[in-house]
Amino acid sequence: MHHCVTLFSIFLLIASSWTDKHQVTASSPSVLYVWSGQDSSVSNAADFVAVIDFDEMSPTYGHILKTVSIVSNTANGIKQVGNEPHHSAISADGRYYITGGLLSFRSQKKEVFVWKITKNIAEGPKFLYALDAPGACPDEFLPIGGPEFDVTMMCNEQAASPGNMVRINAKNRTAISILKNISAFIDFNPHGVGRLSNGSIFVSDFIEPISLAGTDPSQILFRNTVRHILPDGTLERTFQLQFPTTLGSSSGIGRGIGLIALQPIPGDPLGRSFVNGASVNNMYLIGPGMPKPILAIDFSQVNKYQQRISTGLLSIFPDGTRLLTTVQMRYVVLVNITRPEQPNILRVFDFCSDQALKHVTIGIPGSLKKTTFAAFCTQNNNIVGSHYIVHPKDENRFIVINYFLKFGLAQFSGTRTVHAFKFNKDFTNFEYDHKFNPNFQFDSSPIKKQRLTFHSLQAYPHHAQCLKGKKYKHSLRDYII
Ligand SMILES: *[C@@H]1O[C@H](CO)[C@@H](O)[C@H](O)[C@H]1NC(C)=O
Ligand SMILES: *[C@@H]1O[C@H](CO)[C@@H](O)[C@H](O)[C@H]1NC(C)=O
Ligand SMILES: *[C@@H]1O[C@H](CO)[C@@H](O)[C@H](O)[C@H]1NC(C)=O
Ligand SMILES: *[C@@H]1O[C@H](CO)[C@@H](O)[C@H](O)[C@H]1NC(C)=O
Repeated sequence: MHHCVTLFSIFLLIASSWTDKHQVTASSPSVLYVWSGQDSSVSNAADFVAVIDFDEMSPTYGHILKTVSIVSNTANGIKQVGNEPHHSAISADGRYYITGGLLSFRSQKKEVFVWKITKNIAEGPKFLYALDAPGACPDEFLPIGGPEFDVTMMCNEQAASPGNMVRINAKNRTAISILKNISAFIDFNPHGVGRLSNGSIFVSDFIEPISLAGTDPSQILFRNTVRHILPDGTLERTFQLQFPTTLGSSSGIGRGIGLIALQPIPGDPLGRSFVNGASVNNMYLIGPGMPKPILAIDFSQVNKYQQRISTGLLSIFPDGTRLLTTVQMRYVVLVNITRPEQPNILRVFDFCSDQALKHVTIGIPGSLKKTTFAAFCTQNNNIVGSHYIVHPKDENRFIVINYFLKFGLAQFSGTRTVHAFKFNKDFTNFEYDHKFNPNFQFDSSPIKKQRLTFHSLQAYPHHAQCLKGKKYKHSLRDYII
């Protein structure tokens, strides 16, 4: 579902279906588009897309090549800052890049931004138009074919239930609800979404956003439901998960599990998906033919079974053998899911204590002071904000972003950094990629050219797409001169 998009070439499409079966440890030249907010204290602040060099052979590997910003346009209902940049996706036809502003609705502005992917991908996307979709809080975009996307709208215009499920056609500029009868959707705040090959849709409910606007954390309302929606938009079934109430069995923040992420297992004949909890650190296995979801793994085991708030998205390999997730906004976890009912953890990386980060310097967001991950953890309740994780198709690297959300009671900015990791040959282990650093220029000196970093931009990076293509290599070299 999160693919490194291969552009304009049937040949490459054939090549990639071949590599699905024979996992190639290739590191392809490519760029990342990182959808990012900017602190409102920056003059003319604007939400933007950062274009990052993802070609390991390039002298500017891991650097921000340029940024492309949203520009305010009152007549068209566009506000350039404060949209809370959230998820993004690339259309199946490789022509459109789409990004969402989780909180654009608060200023009555359009919330979905549609961009054209240009031939020279290193030049970044070209902004086309903004859309006002039914509902509010756009969350996950799922490319479903051609120029179309399905998107979960986590709330209505009052930041409450029901949210919506919307189909966007980027080419004909439409956004329409796909739900047959929305009054059948009770306590509907969808976040995670997956689509089976026969068109069945699974969505998981996360949180009622308005409950974050109060002052009392015990009133935060996490959701406990997963829904199976038929291709025609009819609600086939609502699965109710059990929120455990015994002491220590949840993070203790608010009520409910908070089913933040859902992803189907590619090629699973039973059409099953994994679903990640937030306040209860469980990952569940759920499927259309199962009487009820089952507990697949308790991720709190990576932290001596202490339940902490966790906002891990999921990235599952196309062959269904491995899963990556972030846990408790500090750990990166690689899981063997060859037997989905009984996954086993292969590797745990801890941003707060891993030796690989001992000498890595980061800038304290919004300040000129430097720090280390360990010191940042000590001062920030061991939360670095790890949330988004993606393993681009046919890659031996993956991306983790340390930023979740800064809204009301959810103050989880973390280090506001973007990281790359590299797998070993059989995908049983990975290492931190020290060469990749779009975050902070720690080797700056008066004679060295200053470059753009997420720190210097005072950015809130949330989501990344990886793009690669035959035309890319030449054009990036051109760009670098
Ligand atoms: C736009 O696309 C949607 C499907 O995504 C379709 O229902 C609608 O008829 C199309 N509208 C136009 C004007 O082509
Ligand atoms: C829509 O859903 C409501 C609530 O489940 C139900 O009472 C009603 O009959 C449904 N309407 C249609 C047209 O299916
Ligand atoms: C889609 O496939 C799954 C798994 O094979 C099945 O359980 C489900 O009922 C199917 N949905 C439809 C709409 O046919
Ligand atoms: C992954 O799980 C399968 C099934 O349990 C097992 O046979 C295989 O050895 C595991 N691989 C690793 C690397 O742990």
